[in-house]
Amino acid sequence: MIHSKKQSRQVSHNLIIGVLVSGRGTNLQQILDEVESGRLHASVSVVISNCGSAEAISRAKARGIPAIFIDPKAYAATAEYDRAILDVLKNHDVELVVLAGYMKIVSSILIEAYRNRMMNIHPSLLPAFSGLYAQRKALEYGVKISGCTVHFVSEEVDAGPVILQAAVPVEESDTEESLSARILAQEHQIFPKALQLYSDGRLQVVGGRVIIAEG
Ligand code: GAR
Repeated sequence: MIHSKKQSRQVSHNLIIGVLVSGRGTNLQQILDEVESGRLHASVSVVISNCGSAEAISRAKARGIPAIFIDPKAYAATAEYDRAILDVLKNHDVELVVLAGYMKIVSSILIEAYRNRMMNIHPSLLPAFSGLYAQRKALEYGVKISGCTVHFVSEEVDAGPVILQAAVPVEESDTEESLSARILAQEHQIFPKALQLYSDGRLQVVGGRVIIAEG
């Protein structure tokens, strides 16, 4: 019997995801919901936070997923901290690392171990408005369209190969909160979509660009 690539992937293997978080965790929640409903063919084996009070930890625990706080203050340098994270990811057989509102800069220890296997979501149309306060910067600049980007993580912050983007019109009346909310709604759409593309084996990085194979 001939199976398509997509079918054989689903039958033979469920992508194992590890999620790094720092706060609220609505992107994590969306991923967990889509896994549970069967729309996203993957499983989340562990959630790691650099912040002990992150709401994302409770969201994971509510689903019975191991959620671990690793305190950055217990480590002298970021490289050591990331080595500890790497150990946890490996112990949970993580194949794809997802940065879902993870607000700590990732070192080469993790980036090299998960080259083109680590995704981040950012609330702007990269390369515009990288770094913190992306929505505020978009408003201050006066752009008429902003949005969000899912990309593979590379050494340069918010600059790795772009996987998916969604555009969000900026309204005259927008505040940072209102624009952030509309962008977040789009984040919840494109992040699981990017994960599913990866799970289906449809993403290929060629010369710093992501090629999406036809489904
Ligand atoms: C999201 O808007 C995400 O794009 C942003 O943090 C928020 C996390 O929300 N991430 C970054 O700015 C990373 N540079 P969430 O915790 O509710 O998913």
